Amino acid sequence: MSENLIELRHVSKSYGKVRALNDVSIHVGPSEVVALLGDNGAGKSTMIKVMSGVHGVDSGEIIVHGKPVEEWTVAAARSAGIETVYQDRALCEQQTITRNIFMGRHLTGFMGLIDEQQEKAEAERLMRSIGFTSKVFSPDTPVGLLSGGERQGVAIARSLYFEARLLILDEPTTALSLTESEKVFNIVRLTKERNCSVLFISHNIYHAYDVSDRFVILDRGQVVMETVRSQLPSVDMLVQQMQDIARVGKETAAHGN
Ligand SMILES: Nc1ncnc2c1ncn2[C@@H]1O[C@H](COP(=O)(O)OP(=O)(O)OP(=O)(O)O)[C@@H](O)[C@H]1O
Ligand SMILES: [Mg+2]
Repeated sequence: MSENLIELRHVSKSYGKVRALNDVSIHVGPSEVVALLGDNGAGKSTMIKVMSGVHGVDSGEIIVHGKPVEEWTVAAARSAGIETVYQDRALCEQQTITRNIFMGRHLTGFMGLIDEQQEKAEAERLMRSIGFTSKVFSPDTPVGLLSGGERQGVAIARSLYFEARLLILDEPTTALSLTESEKVFNIVRLTKERNCSVLFISHNIYHAYDVSDRFVILDRGQVVMETVRSQLPSVDMLVQQMQDIARVGKETAAHGN
């Protein structure tokens, strides 16, 4: 099926006098990895908060699985298979990997009791499927003992278990070392192989280039470029485009627009 998972059409969103999104249109299709790029304050986080149902829009349309939505909330986004992992990840450090994956959405068995064995087995299976190969970690390992990249992995595993069709990641690699970032991008690749699309924000164009099928660049609340990877034979071309956009932005600001 080639239907878009989500599409924003001519969406605008302001915070008081600050227009964070200005007539933005963007979509994410099935089984694709889309990188959302742009400078600080470009509107990236606002856009994904709109997609995840955290913020309403001032104008424009949100179309999900081909149908315009009336009321778009966090719960509605989740039930449509749109899962968001924020930078702070909302994991509980003292709790085990299993507890974190099933927190608030337990598997239940006989008489509605939490089925801990089943949860552990599922947690183990999920962790392996996203590349946790170390024997040192078990489903009983507290999340506080994991590295930054592994924690992202647990947060992503949680989303995948609940059958995400689109995983949204707000700067998943900020504050991570190169090796840890690579782990996260490997998980992004595996996520795509499971037929789940990924939309992620990154400040690191080099990372984004390696893993993405398409790039969308935001600048001061507007989409200023959208390119598929096949039109960008090298990362340098993407870097050049970003630099051109930043230069034009500075010139426009200097002229008081
Ligand atoms: N809750 C808020 N209240 C008021 N203004 C906000 C709020 N959130 C964001 N903004 C403003 O909206 C604009 C877009 O912000 P947003 O956080 O979406 O940008 P961003 O591209 O994610 O930036 P960064 O790369 O720094 O995370 C900025 O001018 C920001 O100051
Ligand atoms: Mg942001």
